[in-house]
Amino acid sequence: MTHQCGNCGCGGDFGTPAKISDTLVELEIDLVKINVPQGTSLLRAAAMAGIEIPKLCATESLEPFGSCRLCLVQVEGRRGYPASCTTPAEAGMVVKTQTPQLANIRRGVMELYISDHPLDCLMCPANGHCELQTMAGRVGLREVRYGYEGHNHLSLTKDESNPYFSYDPSKCIVCNRCVRACEQIQGTFALTIDGRGFESRVSAGQNQPFLDSECVSCGACVLSCPTATLMEKTLIEHGQTDDHIVTTCAYCGVGCSLVAEVKGDQVVNLFPNKNGHANHGHACVKGRFAWGYANHPDRLTKPMIREKITDPWREASWEQAIQFAADKFKAIQAKYGKNAIGGLVSSRCTNEEDYLVQKLVRAAFGNNNVDTCARVCHSPTGYGLSATFGTSAGTQSFDSVMDADVVMLIGVNPTDGHPVFGSQLKRRLRQGAKLVVVDPREINLVDSAHIKADFHLKLRPGTNVAMANALAHVIVGEGLYDEAFIDQRCDSQEFAKWKDFILDPRHSPEETAAITGVPAEQVRSAARLFASGGNGAIYYGLGVTEHSQGSTMVIAIANLAMATGNIGRPGVGVNPLRGQNNVQGSCDMGAFPHELPGYRHVSNDAARATFEQAWGVELQNEPGLRIPNMFEAAFDGAFKGLYCQGEDIAQSDPNTQHVEAALRAMECIVVQDLFLNETAKFAHVLLPGASFLEKDGTFTNAERRISRVRKVKAPLGGYGDWEATMMLANAMGYPMHYDHPSQIMDEIAALTPTFNGVSYQKLEQMGSIQWPCNDSAPDGTPTMHIDGFVRGKGRFMTTEYVATDEKVTRRFPLILTTGRILSQYNVGAQTRRTKNTAWHPEDILEIHPHDAEERGIVDGDWVGIQSRAGETVLHAKVSSRVQPGVVYTTFHHPFSGANVITTDNSDWATNCPEFKVTAVQVVKVALPSEWQQRYLQFRTAQENFLKRPKASADG
Ligand code: SF4
Ligand code: SF4
Ligand code: SF4
Ligand code: FES
Repeated sequence: MTHQCGNCGCGGDFGTPAKISDTLVELEIDLVKINVPQGTSLLRAAAMAGIEIPKLCATESLEPFGSCRLCLVQVEGRRGYPASCTTPAEAGMVVKTQTPQLANIRRGVMELYISDHPLDCLMCPANGHCELQTMAGRVGLREVRYGYEGHNHLSLTKDESNPYFSYDPSKCIVCNRCVRACEQIQGTFALTIDGRGFESRVSAGQNQPFLDSECVSCGACVLSCPTATLMEKTLIEHGQTDDHIVTTCAYCGVGCSLVAEVKGDQVVNLFPNKNGHANHGHACVKGRFAWGYANHPDRLTKPMIREKITDPWREASWEQAIQFAADKFKAIQAKYGKNAIGGLVSSRCTNEEDYLVQKLVRAAFGNNNVDTCARVCHSPTGYGLSATFGTSAGTQSFDSVMDADVVMLIGVNPTDGHPVFGSQLKRRLRQGAKLVVVDPREINLVDSAHIKADFHLKLRPGTNVAMANALAHVIVGEGLYDEAFIDQRCDSQEFAKWKDFILDPRHSPEETAAITGVPAEQVRSAARLFASGGNGAIYYGLGVTEHSQGSTMVIAIANLAMATGNIGRPGVGVNPLRGQNNVQGSCDMGAFPHELPGYRHVSNDAARATFEQAWGVELQNEPGLRIPNMFEAAFDGAFKGLYCQGEDIAQSDPNTQHVEAALRAMECIVVQDLFLNETAKFAHVLLPGASFLEKDGTFTNAERRISRVRKVKAPLGGYGDWEATMMLANAMGYPMHYDHPSQIMDEIAALTPTFNGVSYQKLEQMGSIQWPCNDSAPDGTPTMHIDGFVRGKGRFMTTEYVATDEKVTRRFPLILTTGRILSQYNVGAQTRRTKNTAWHPEDILEIHPHDAEERGIVDGDWVGIQSRAGETVLHAKVSSRVQPGVVYTTFHHPFSGANVITTDNSDWATNCPEFKVTAVQVVKVALPSEWQQRYLQFRTAQENFLKRPKASADG
């Protein structure tokens, strides 16, 4: 159902999309003279002049269709009554929108609609928000002459199969808006109008229930429906809302702006903000619908403490729990030294929370032992882009893709991992941009509705660098590089060195084919297309970074972009698609053991002095421990205490059994989270975390865009995460006080040059800001490196391919690689507690038909997956989306134990784990693995400790 209020700053609906043109045409509408860009529809021109023409099938997010005949107008000198939504404004036109003839026609049209529509307006959940109802009033319809005796659609049955919205065909006016939304906005083409004339009705897939069709539940059709035909079930259940607040999605790195509709203190609906700079009115099933976890009964709402992890939990007050944690931490430091404790913060937390945790560790704990989950996803991006360009962030806005001519996707699956960007990319591809996919697996974009990749370089997992070198070899060897760009913008000595390196015959596609498994001619053709096809843009994801050569590959991507001159303007660039909502922000905020906020190394005396002065403490000048080093130190008995905010290392980090053993070796683990996550089962203090609906702050998305997160309701646990960090700092003896997260942002801005111009006030004015934002760029920076690289000259670096140590052998003959799925998110703690489980109730193992047959495996079999690190058991799905020799799974369910089998191998520069390459054997089995059986026992025991807390801490 549409949201027509217009009071969230959306400015109402002008009926058809805005047109951009340097040519203005002047016309007259109802005696009002107006100038509009050429191509603007009469409907929109009238709306721009403040004149509302009745409409039903038109809405400004969709190209017009001209079916309802309600928006008819009269144009002087023209016969008939053209539809204003499909008629472009022309210079000198004189248009009338209100005449007796038009009024008659509109009433007649409306009468026909209403005569086949249930007259239960008062009982209808859309009452007061239905465009049909509004338009009936606007055209002055007072009576309907036709009864219900004839043919009608009133007895058609509802489709309730989708967990989040219902489809009631009896209310459908066949305006086609939903069909167009699915095509034009989402790009899924799941809907059609089935039947002809009177029989026509909206149909999902092949006349299937929505849930069984190709529908990906993005909600675009629901949002565009002018009636209650497609409607959110929460709105049906709770009725219309009484307030709304604009906030930012807390799932992926697209960072969609959402409008939360509330009734009292209850969130009833979330829909995409059409003024959102990252999403322009679109969302995906996660942001739009999967927010029910915020009210899930599993939420932790009371602080808990215990001495040992074999003890039941005891409820405590916040003060008691914080004091308990601080006493333990202080005792550990007194016994084992200052460096025996540390903190982890999450890329799901806000910038302000990330900043405060690293401040807590540096100022109150007195060391640099702070790390973030960006360690296990995008740390190589930071390293590689800093080394080559001078700044560790993507170079573009999402909108830049609309100027791209050739898009290269490397190790990324946007339609699942970054769905709203995926839809935008599909729009550009449908307009004719070319696509090269570099991925071991056939992602959706390789071949989907109206999209076909020009090349799919289906390489073996772990051979990215060999592939990038081969592409560069062709580009340089065939003289396709951009000499002028390189001369002007790049370090010539480094380029000469790199050129010699890359021209070596060992990097040729013919030589590397033996490594990558991709035929040389395909690589040559893809390289030629990328280098000479116009604006070339590279998008990459964890399929690049989570390798032993993750940093090398990021550098190789930067080399490719520089060599082809594809940096510094719209339509090009290097674009890391960040997995979680605030990966960029957590890195920016200095939640790394070697860097202060703004990527300044802790050994940088001047930078340290700035923070020492502001914080009133002396800071260590040596990097602290990364997550894997914390584990090693725990085994050595040198690391004993951990504060862990919003991060679930026991599920998300590789080699689970190793992580569990390290956690067991610690004496005090404080977990602050929404749920009793896997790490929390090893904790001694539990602090209830606040969901994104319960907090103020900011997230920074993959395009460096800082957006406000606004509190929609009070934190269930009583305090925001930033307040808990502050309390812990004070209890540790370091005074910390802020009244509101805006003050934390003011401190960040004062201490971080790239954030100097950022404030909540400015965010209110601008909606969002892309950093750097300072005196040189007061309105932010949509495109980086326009006139020069941040480091001065762009730096080419040699990228020798080194095969991973993780080799296939007769014992482990297959390669396991991992990825994401649309409906689930990361460790699944949030999405598993929503109705999204309708799509993905468990992780499954994809195996190629050839490998399956060899092992006697068919769809649905339980299969054991053994690696050098461990074993787990999943259900199998036989699929040729993976290549022979490669198996694939996701990691959203803890019982799956995907990380029980991943190894300790990691990126040479950053320790980012090599999640994407694990040598395994797969066999048919009948029982869960030993680890899974132990896991179930441990989980049950820990959940029972929580369900039956002993007497309170006072008792
Ligand atoms: S379901 Fe809604 S949007 Fe789609 S055709 Fe029917 S009334 Fe129009
Ligand atoms: S929810 Fe999205 S994918 Fe599904 S039919 Fe509607 S627009 Fe298409
Ligand atoms: S999950 Fe990502 S794409 Fe989906 S609504 Fe949230 S930010 Fe947007
Ligand atoms: S709004 Fe123009 S024909 Fe429907």
